Amino acid sequence: MLSEKDFIVSSYSSIDYAAFECSAPSNIALVKYWGKKENQIPANPSISFTLNNCKTITKVNFTKKKSKNDFLFDLLFEGKPKEDFKPKILKFFQRIETYCPYLKEYHIVIDTQNTFPHSSGIASSASGMAALAMNVMSLEKEINSNLTDDLFYKKASFLARLGSGSACRSIKGEVVAWGKNESIAESSDLFGVEFNNINENFNNYQDTILLVDKGEKQVSSTVGHELMFGHPYAEKRFEQAHDNLAKITKILLEGNIEEFIKIVESEALTLHAMMMTSMPYFILMKPNTLEIINKIWKFRNETNIPVCFTLDAGANVHILYPENVSVKVLQFIKDELVAFCQNGHYICDQIGNGAESK
Ligand code: PMV
Repeated sequence: MLSEKDFIVSSYSSIDYAAFECSAPSNIALVKYWGKKENQIPANPSISFTLNNCKTITKVNFTKKKSKNDFLFDLLFEGKPKEDFKPKILKFFQRIETYCPYLKEYHIVIDTQNTFPHSSGIASSASGMAALAMNVMSLEKEINSNLTDDLFYKKASFLARLGSGSACRSIKGEVVAWGKNESIAESSDLFGVEFNNINENFNNYQDTILLVDKGEKQVSSTVGHELMFGHPYAEKRFEQAHDNLAKITKILLEGNIEEFIKIVESEALTLHAMMMTSMPYFILMKPNTLEIINKIWKFRNETNIPVCFTLDAGANVHILYPENVSVKVLQFIKDELVAFCQNGHYICDQIGNGAESK
């Protein structure tokens, strides 16, 4: 079992210049992470589908500098300097300094872009932090020849977690679990682990993301997680997440889509129920979120097509369905759901494999 100290690099060489390009996808949780302890340790385990099309692509170059006293970095977003992203990146570098002491030796230029519109309400922190962590690990691989492939990916996930919790599930694998739990022997609070051998019923599972509200969220995930401290239902919720994780891992192996739907939709509504019962309470769903949910339920009842929804910490709706019903579901989305999307916008995605380095 790896512990935090296993991620501290003990010896490394030094190079004058290196440049990398890595991409990492977004992910959508089936069992939700909501609530955390110190150091980005999750209060409960979670599991997600890795997406394929919604990605962050990040180029980073590292140029050796004289002083090793401070972090020095420039940040470009879509080719232009982006000062307001810098504090989050600085905080990330500070959090990972113990594990990546070499970073202060370089002037770092980060050039990042998303394949999805920035103002789409799709969180770019998971894909963004995962892509950055992959670039950092690409440098570490250059300067530490002892780094194994296994440790490369585990440490990339470990670092991504320190940037944004759920980002650790965006590194490797189609289905990734994060948080120690009894159902997955190798699971860890420190990094995400690939969940293998999923049933063929979930092959190329589709996720169409309906963009209900592209605006800035009124309450950030960071604040939402904090509100689980002292939350009257927190302990029961954490227990329930463990139970649901045990159930969904079995379902993913056996391929029972009917049972999958029950857990996934219940998890989405429970996440939002936690928000609504926090103090202060808040609501991130919009009227159109509920319109869409009701339409999905009606369509599923009438057609028996196994389509379901999930939500992340926002108003957008992720519609999940098997590939073999995609023609019918896309028609249903166009006919009945697009009207509830902001400017009629939605994004077609599906399960993918994780981060890539060029
Ligand atoms: O990784 P964060 O801190 O942005 O939290 C993400 C929380 C949810 O998206 C709501 C759930 C999850 O497990 O991804």
